[in-house]
Amino acid sequence: MRFSTVSLFPEIIEASLNYSMAKRAIERGLFEVKHFQIRDHAVNAYGKVDDALYGGGTGMLLMPEPVYQTVRQAGHSFAQDNPEAGKNVEIKEKVIYLSPRGRQLTQELAAQLLDYNHLILISGHYEGIDERVLEEVVAEEISIGDYVLSGGELASAVLIDVVMRMIPGVLPDNEAWQKESHASGFLEENQYTRPAVWRERKVPEVLLSGHAARIEKARELSALTNTMARRPDLLTASVMSAEDWFTLLKTLDIQEECK
Ligand code: ADE
Repeated sequence: MRFSTVSLFPEIIEASLNYSMAKRAIERGLFEVKHFQIRDHAVNAYGKVDDALYGGGTGMLLMPEPVYQTVRQAGHSFAQDNPEAGKNVEIKEKVIYLSPRGRQLTQELAAQLLDYNHLILISGHYEGIDERVLEEVVAEEISIGDYVLSGGELASAVLIDVVMRMIPGVLPDNEAWQKESHASGFLEENQYTRPAVWRERKVPEVLLSGHAARIEKARELSALTNTMARRPDLLTASVMSAEDWFTLLKTLDIQEECK
């Protein structure tokens, strides 16, 4: 899988790929990231890529042609580096524009993006991008949250991080992403490591019991109560089994008794 970034500040995105899990996965060839610089396709010798808004308004807007040429370059580069693509292997390419207007990035949407072998991520800067180029390259707009960043680069880095962690082989097996917060529709359970007692706070007894089935149940319970306390909206949105509901209601009952 390749992520191609189209931006003015690729260094921001690159910085997030030079550490830890992403770095190791790239070294192991599990995915790759290529950066394409919009300024390389400037409309004049002074590196001009932006201009004032038609109709007035503050700030500058990225012009369509430099962005268009950069997206095309990313597409050509992928085809060139993968000669089998388009013949034996289908090119599954998607162009994404990171924007606060976009569809909200969720674990579920990130999982859907795994179906593609080439994601082209456009990061806007200044006031944004001329609308016509987004139409021309058929960009899907994705937002990482209801707030405005000063550029799309951090959002691109977030998207790459979320998607690459789900590529098979990137996470060690015992850390499979399916077990984490949001993957199952629930938040993660509380977790503990040594020492068993820290500043008079004890690790829950059951986790020290060595009883696998009871430990599993206790973790499920912790995940359910965490979700209920922090993000009750997820409980209605997720598909909860009858058993989950039973466990949840029983927990509530126990908590009521303990008061
Ligand atoms: N660019 C600026 N703000 C953004 C956001 N919230 N999500 C994605 N891209 C952005």
